[in-house]
Amino acid sequence: MDLRLTQARANDAERAAVDRVVSPALGGTGPSTGPSTGTGTGTGTGTGTGTGTGTGTGIGSLRDEHFADAGHAARGRRHLVLPTLHAVQEDIGWISPGALNYVSLRLSVPPADVYGVATFYAMFSTEPRAPRVVHVCDDAVCGQRGGERLAQRLAAELGGEGSGDEVCWLRSPCLGLCERAPAVLLQRTGEPDYAIAPASVEQTLGAAAGGGPGAAGADAAFDDTSVSAPQTGSGVGASGAAAGAELRLLRRVGVVDPTSLDEYRANGGYTALRRAVGIGPTRVIKEVSDSSLTGRGGAAFPTGLKWDGVAKAPERPHYLVCNADESEPGTFKDRVLLESDPFGLVEAMTIAGYATGCERGYLYIRGEYPLATRRLANAIAQARQRGYLGADVMGEGFAFDLELRRGAGAYICGEETALLNSIEGFRGEPRNKPPFPSVSGLFGKPTVINNVETLYNVLQVLAVGGPAFAEIGGGRSTGPKLFCLSGAVARPGVYEVSFGATLREVLELAGGTVGELRAILLGGAAGSFVLPDQLDVPLTLEGTREIGASLGSGVIFAIDTGADLTEILRRIAAFFRDESCGQCVPCRVGTVRQEESLARMLRRTEIGSREQELALLDDLARVMRDASICGLGQTAPAAIQSAIDLGLLSEGVGQ
Ligand SMILES: Cc1cc2nc3c(=O)[nH]c(=O)nc-3n(C[C@H](O)[C@H](O)[C@H](O)COP(=O)(O)O)c2cc1C
Ligand code: SF4
Ligand code: FES
Repeated sequence: MDLRLTQARANDAERAAVDRVVSPALGGTGPSTGPSTGTGTGTGTGTGTGTGTGTGTGIGSLRDEHFADAGHAARGRRHLVLPTLHAVQEDIGWISPGALNYVSLRLSVPPADVYGVATFYAMFSTEPRAPRVVHVCDDAVCGQRGGERLAQRLAAELGGEGSGDEVCWLRSPCLGLCERAPAVLLQRTGEPDYAIAPASVEQTLGAAAGGGPGAAGADAAFDDTSVSAPQTGSGVGASGAAAGAELRLLRRVGVVDPTSLDEYRANGGYTALRRAVGIGPTRVIKEVSDSSLTGRGGAAFPTGLKWDGVAKAPERPHYLVCNADESEPGTFKDRVLLESDPFGLVEAMTIAGYATGCERGYLYIRGEYPLATRRLANAIAQARQRGYLGADVMGEGFAFDLELRRGAGAYICGEETALLNSIEGFRGEPRNKPPFPSVSGLFGKPTVINNVETLYNVLQVLAVGGPAFAEIGGGRSTGPKLFCLSGAVARPGVYEVSFGATLREVLELAGGTVGELRAILLGGAAGSFVLPDQLDVPLTLEGTREIGASLGSGVIFAIDTGADLTEILRRIAAFFRDESCGQCVPCRVGTVRQEESLARMLRRTEIGSREQELALLDDLARVMRDASICGLGQTAPAAIQSAIDLGLLSEGVGQ
């Protein structure tokens, strides 16, 4: 593609889409203010030369008159790149050179940079594309549970992947709906996206043809939360205990109307924030430190330590970011919380902001979570309207507001520094650490980044107090923990246990495994395998480490002897190859070589023998682990390495 975009002009619709995002932000009327240097600078003075909008900065005339549009204020608009690209993609169905050019002009970002960002994300298309796109999950869980069959039927009915003028279909990595496999996501020009799961061929074809349930109907299908979180809701829970009994993180799931602030309040909502305000920021951080709460996003960093560092940082402003990018294949726990208890996250973020001196929080949610996005947008709007967010939260004299930012299909944006770059309007490429975000994070300021489940735990810490929370479990593994069960289990879904429960106990909560168990993939695509004779391992940071495994993002993916383990590993390798940001060679090349080797093994066209392929994979794993910049490259070979170590890939062992 030619990067000299200055000749291409946006049409009226494209300009309107961009202006819808940019004008309110620059006018200072919306919540979207960006870095402190960029606030409220809109001029609204330009007359424009044919932009037809009558608002904004009149870019056309300013350029003709060589008006200087630079400096801090201009640079401060860059954080709007992703929202404007979303607006164009949503309204027009693709992002044309003219639209890229107009984004570039309005935000004072070089055209090549805007192009670089637009092409980074899977949900954006810089080529003309059909207005209805069906994303079919063919990842590790769905692929084995009907996703592959669905893809083949769509190919037969609609033509090859990506082809078609009115509708096209594309293969997709995990859509975070594994408990309802197989899953599809409908991306529709000018209309809201929605997911169908489980998706039948007929339903998918109907929706692709423009019929189907529409967003409201599709969302309603998710109202039966007992499918995704079988312990919750009314009736008797999976363990036989009364539903909701003992549940802390999931206690409101399936119980309250997730669209109602009043119901949230009637079910304990905002008591934690009141307690936080009652004891003050320093005591809140002490309670969190005393609780020994560790991050649930994968790295298990002590939350109290992170909060304390930012609270004490002299540089201002401080920022809070919630990482709701949840894209690790097999992971869907955050989605269930976000969809069913969205006010809980708004309250928890407000507490985090209050304790650490942040007046602004960003909630970065994965682009493929349309229902959760709608629920959170509603929760934020209601909280703002009722004084739970804003300049004087609950009349308690402190300010805190939240902005929802949508990702656009890039797993790497879950890595905290890549996420920061994504919010700032750069490609979602990880930064070198140090400096860590608590020192230099969003817009170069001290920043707290926490996972969704971590933040829900804070509500519990404030409910019972830090020391009492620390008594649940022990060591670095304290409090309640969510696990995502999928694959060969009787009742897939999100399950909550206290830290210390064994893998066997959690599997029993889900009704046990189905068929003959071959192995459990624990921790996610970047996790490792556990064998049937290791099911008594306690699911703690310490317990899993002892057997060389890790909890990762809380995935428990059961694989029976009927599944093709080599194919599952090849799909995982393909995922990492696709999602590698490409910045460093060990990851960029290593992920390709891994997939090639596994594909050869599947085709029985090994270079030399199978043992030679395994030796190559082992070599690659060591280089990637030792020399990659970020966690993606370091952990991309983990599952393969673990399968090799456990002999799951050796000649003559299963498939
Ligand atoms: C490739 C990669 C993807 C990640 N994806 C997520 C994610 O989707 N959600 C998340 O909370 N953390 C994710 N993390 C971990 C984050 O970098 C970070 O540690 C976490 O958000 C911190 O929050 P916590 O301390 O509450 O766990 C990812 C890390 C890597 C290396
Ligand atoms: S390890 Fe992979 S994802 Fe991470 S910076 Fe390097 S190339 Fe990018
Ligand atoms: S939604 Fe298909 S594998 Fe997760």
